[in-house]
Amino acid sequence: MSVRIVRVTTLDPAQADLAVEWNDVFVASTVATMGDDHDAWSMASLRAREASSAWDRRYLAAVDDAGRVLSSANLAMPLRDNPELALLDLAVHPDHRRLGIGTTMFDHVTEVARGAGRTSLVTETAYPKDGTDPGEAFARIHGFDMAQTNHRNDLDVTGYRHEQASDTPGYVIETSTDDTKDEWLEDRAHLQRRMSTDVPLGDLDFEEEDWDVERLKGEREATAKSGRRAVESVARHLDTGRLVAFTQLQIPTAEPVLAYQQDTLVLREHRGHGLGAAVKAANMRTLRAESPQTRIVRTWNAQENGPMIAVNEALGYRTTAILREWQKRLG
Ligand SMILES: CC(C)(COP(=O)(O)OP(=O)(O)OC[C@H]1O[C@@H](n2cnc3c(N)ncnc32)[C@H](O)[C@@H]1OP(=O)(O)O)[C@@H](O)C(=O)NCCC(=O)NCCS
Repeated sequence: MSVRIVRVTTLDPAQADLAVEWNDVFVASTVATMGDDHDAWSMASLRAREASSAWDRRYLAAVDDAGRVLSSANLAMPLRDNPELALLDLAVHPDHRRLGIGTTMFDHVTEVARGAGRTSLVTETAYPKDGTDPGEAFARIHGFDMAQTNHRNDLDVTGYRHEQASDTPGYVIETSTDDTKDEWLEDRAHLQRRMSTDVPLGDLDFEEEDWDVERLKGEREATAKSGRRAVESVARHLDTGRLVAFTQLQIPTAEPVLAYQQDTLVLREHRGHGLGAAVKAANMRTLRAESPQTRIVRTWNAQENGPMIAVNEALGYRTTAILREWQKRLG
């Protein structure tokens, strides 16, 4: 079958007719590799992400002469920090691979990134735990180097252990069933900033992220708009009154069976007191009480993040897939 790209077009997912078809390519591509157990974004979540003013996002579609979308790309460029960086998602519909379409799209996307002054491209590939990475050959041929390996870890909530975390003298754990509380925002902005530097980054060349109360409020709004509910627990240091650890879970309200473990951080100077396990246990207790339909909690951990993996394994998490980060310097 011969397929011809007649145009590579940019589109606005909030309005364009092509937006649903554009997203369907990502879904079909992910299903081809991961089966039904995939994490492709829903259209609602994508639209909610649009609300963020912290990113310049560009959406590209390769369209054939019958108007079908053959390939989709999403370029996300941070506006508040990391001015060199562009994050890329690129997929070719499984029915149209090995025809050079991915390469054509990649060339377009590279030009868009360059035009926006970006010199570092980061992309991800994913595959089931016992498989091989189908995106690797393409990434390497286009000049990417592997920068980090992450494990996708799933917790069967029914098999959850360690309901009772040990005591954490000197700290108190607080939980919100309604995302980050207003009175937490200032400390949480500091924690979120540290989240970008205090976690293992492999060979990824990322700078510190610029977080403040307004940006966190924007995230909170985007989470709600995307139809997700957030449960968050924090650890407060009693001597100073400051928050020194946090963890967040998100539950899609329309499909609560699968919940997502988002960021968790204990500030370096407060590690070694069991705070990571304590905030996670508090969140799990709340999740079970507030969302009894949730069966699986899913998270991603850097392979080299021994302490976080140890906490998660103790809670009963098991690896189900691998996600790899690739980075390329644009000459
Ligand atoms: C990776 C992907 C975008 C490639 O799209 P594509 O249109 O098939 O790519 P191209 O036809 O331009 O391939 C260019 C070259 O990459 C290499 N390549 C691509 N897919 C490959 C595969 N599955 N196995 C081995 N080599 C592969 C080949 O060298 C190919 O040239 P050839 O066909 O002449 O041998 C597509 O397979 C896909 O959507 N995968 C899932 C998403 C993904 O992994 N994205 C990561 C992008 S870095």
